[in-house]
Amino acid sequence: MEKQKPRVYVTRIIAEKALDLLNAECNVKVWQGSMPPPRDVLLEQVQEIDGLVSLLTDKVDEELLKRAPNLKVVSNVAVGYDNIDVNAATRHGIPIGNTPGILTETTADLAFALLMAAARRLGESERYIRDGKWQTWDPTALLGVDIYGATLGIIGMGRIGQAVARRARGFDMRVIYSGGGHGYPTQLMGAARRELDELLRESDFVSIHCPLTPDTYHLISERELGLMKPTAILVNTARGGIVDPKALYAALKNKQIGYAALDVTEPEPIHLDDPLLTLDNCLIVPHIGSASVRTREKMALMAVENLLAGLKGERLPHCVNPSVYNR
Ligand code: GLV
Repeated sequence: MEKQKPRVYVTRIIAEKALDLLNAECNVKVWQGSMPPPRDVLLEQVQEIDGLVSLLTDKVDEELLKRAPNLKVVSNVAVGYDNIDVNAATRHGIPIGNTPGILTETTADLAFALLMAAARRLGESERYIRDGKWQTWDPTALLGVDIYGATLGIIGMGRIGQAVARRARGFDMRVIYSGGGHGYPTQLMGAARRELDELLRESDFVSIHCPLTPDTYHLISERELGLMKPTAILVNTARGGIVDPKALYAALKNKQIGYAALDVTEPEPIHLDDPLLTLDNCLIVPHIGSASVRTREKMALMAVENLLAGLKGERLPHCVNPSVYNR
């Protein structure tokens, strides 16, 4: 008798090549909506499955894990995994996969694009034309700040933070960094380490590259924004929850800091009546850090690689809770 193929649920349409690989080995169901599957659908679908391919928009928690008695592996198509209760998964003996490394450069590109767009006020400049304000070359209009020679403070000098530091060097910036905690050196990639408060005081640009954890939730709030220069530009391509949005609004509105450029918000999507959207000195894009054709395909393929390993009972090539194997 032919062995039954493992059952897999994929919570959104991902790259075709990755789905083809999955289909070759598994009995696959893909949620076809452009919005994530509603919670009740997800909870129902996981009841019979052996493997789940999730996105950062899907909450994988104790409740879901309890409903999925056959589940052997969860593979997140993202490097971040704050949507997943990793401790609960470990308790249930379920390895969690993510997609590190392959989106580093693409995300660093976007962080730098946001940094430059904020410095040179590209969003406002584009609106200026569309609003019919471009009457002549104006020596005093839309003046921004220089990037070369400026100090960039990188919060979280992991893979993406370091890739941003490399770009900054090419633009003749001075780079400092904070975070790491566990024995990070005083100098890393030519960047001097600072405590967070010092970094905020010294930087002309601050770019966030740490994960969202209970420790980093609202890491940048009223007090921290108050330490920044009145001309400082804050870039966030990590997770929205790291910055307190109410405090950010107040700081931008009162010109306590110069500008913010955000790829991530709290909540996501940002509500259309969010006051941040009324500000000229705030540029917001819809969580597109890893959104290049090539990178999104690589992420989907890596997620499938993780999933297939988990279904075979093998160690995931990219596992966020390796302690699951010590049980
Ligand atoms: C995207 O935000 C990711 O974590 O991959």
